[in-house]
Amino acid sequence: EDDNENEMLLSGRKVIVTAGGTIERIDPVRYITNDSSGKMGFAIAKVAQEMGAEVHLIAANTSAEPPSGISLERVQSAEDMYAAVLRQWEACDMVVMAAAVADYRPREVAQTKIKKKDNDITLELVKNVDILESLGHSKKHQFLVGFAAETENMETYAIDKLERKNCDLIAANDVTVEGTGFGADDNAVQIYDRGGMVERIPVQSKEEVARKLLTIAAGRMGGVL
Ligand code: CTP
Ligand code: CA
Repeated sequence: EDDNENEMLLSGRKVIVTAGGTIERIDPVRYITNDSSGKMGFAIAKVAQEMGAEVHLIAANTSAEPPSGISLERVQSAEDMYAAVLRQWEACDMVVMAAAVADYRPREVAQTKIKKKDNDITLELVKNVDILESLGHSKKHQFLVGFAAETENMETYAIDKLERKNCDLIAANDVTVEGTGFGADDNAVQIYDRGGMVERIPVQSKEEVARKLLTIAAGRMGGVL
């Protein structure tokens, strides 16, 4: 049956999925993070495994329950996530960067708790590595899927990111749609490749979105199994 074939579109494929928001430490008791719940990445990992893939899930800060029965590696910072991805990179066939990677981190991580003083203080931030961009510029056979959260000019910004990061598909979050995005159980995305819009996925469960996104990705992956 058709459904059954669809189920196994990723059999024999090794897939890395990143999820959640990275944690960038300030001191032993304080950090910077973001609102990512990890739900979209977790849904992708679960569905990829259902579609036959061997999945390695790399998760930073999340508020959701991780899918069971999937290889899970917990990380904190963007640097940790980058190192974890690189360890699996050579052997993998696809990377889906659903994580909300912090663009900046504190220049210094204090080894002891920063004490309150009378004066104001300034937190200096330095730029983090762009994991997806780095992978995009060293990829060989790997298929790369990125995400983009946009509030305007969806198509232009999404395709700009896709080109800059040299990824194969980008799923742009339509953050103007209510009940979707950070923390929600549903999502709505527009999928783009270099040529423009590939598919518009209206509001539905993150698992349904994951299934549609992965079906498109599977159909475009190279290599013979
Ligand atoms: N990403 C990454 N490493 C970073 C920042 C982002 O790998 N340091 C990845 C995200 O996981 C996502 C994609 O790049 O798949 C786009 O992230 P996004 O934050 O939308 O784009 P940025 O390039 O960071 O641009 P901006 O935040 O300014 O929109
Ligand atoms: Ca960003």
